[in-house]
Amino acid sequence: MKRKITILVFSLILTMTLCTVVAAEGHGHKQPMKKGILLVAFGSSMSEAQVSFKNIDKRVKNAFPGVPVRWAYTSHIIRHKLAKEGKQLDSTEMALAKMMDDGFTHVAVQSLHTIAGEEYHELVQNAYAFGQMSGGFERILVGYPLLGKEDDLVKVTETIIKNIPKDRKKEDAVVLMGHGTHHPGNAFYAAMMYHFQQKDPNIFVGTVEGAPTIDDIKGLLLKKKIKKAYLMPFMSVAGDHARNDMAGDEDDSWKSILTKAGIKCVPVLKGTAEYNDIVDIWVAHLKTVLVHF
Ligand code: CO
Repeated sequence: MKRKITILVFSLILTMTLCTVVAAEGHGHKQPMKKGILLVAFGSSMSEAQVSFKNIDKRVKNAFPGVPVRWAYTSHIIRHKLAKEGKQLDSTEMALAKMMDDGFTHVAVQSLHTIAGEEYHELVQNAYAFGQMSGGFERILVGYPLLGKEDDLVKVTETIIKNIPKDRKKEDAVVLMGHGTHHPGNAFYAAMMYHFQQKDPNIFVGTVEGAPTIDDIKGLLLKKKIKKAYLMPFMSVAGDHARNDMAGDEDDSWKSILTKAGIKCVPVLKGTAEYNDIVDIWVAHLKTVLVHF
């Protein structure tokens, strides 16, 4: 059996793989073309966070009418937690297996992650495996996460700035909470802070699980004698991290840490996927994938 596998890898900053094209041909009989979209998010167990997913779903369906849209969630913990409440959500592998079974031949997988970190790279690997599989998809491609090209960083900066509460004064800080990771993709958060500060020197970007930490940010705020800070999630959903780690009343929340340092905090509980201009960046990435079909 003759099999040709083509892999095109576009590598960008940080040697990360942003968009992988996997094509496999020659599976004997050819199926009729059936295109599909798979949206892949980390997931959230909080019902308040669903507004973000609904907004993405709506905008993707509007942009690509007639193309079936399916969802998958990468977080094990969240899927298991929701399964106990009777909500069955698919992992990426499960969703792709079902799509394969349902006769899809061309699948555009869109990462709804913010940076190209571990989750994104796993997604690319799994998509690749499904493309190679005997009887697998003819074509499966993965779209960039939110921060793909330098352009995206600029657009994200502008959109977030537009959405800062209007009562914020120039001397007030805006502290964005990114997720953060041990993965080298973590460097995007510092890159974002650079972009923000080019436009507004009082905007800061910290992370929950990587660098810069909230202690780093606290130090920067104190050095600038900041008295008030608006706290905003730099995550697609205002879920557990935003509601607890950022805005919660526990001693180790960002609100508590900064309040204790003499900085008045105003939490804003809105995920980035609630802003249409941000969702449209993911949609644009999906479009660059779908044009290959
Ligand atoms: Co987390």
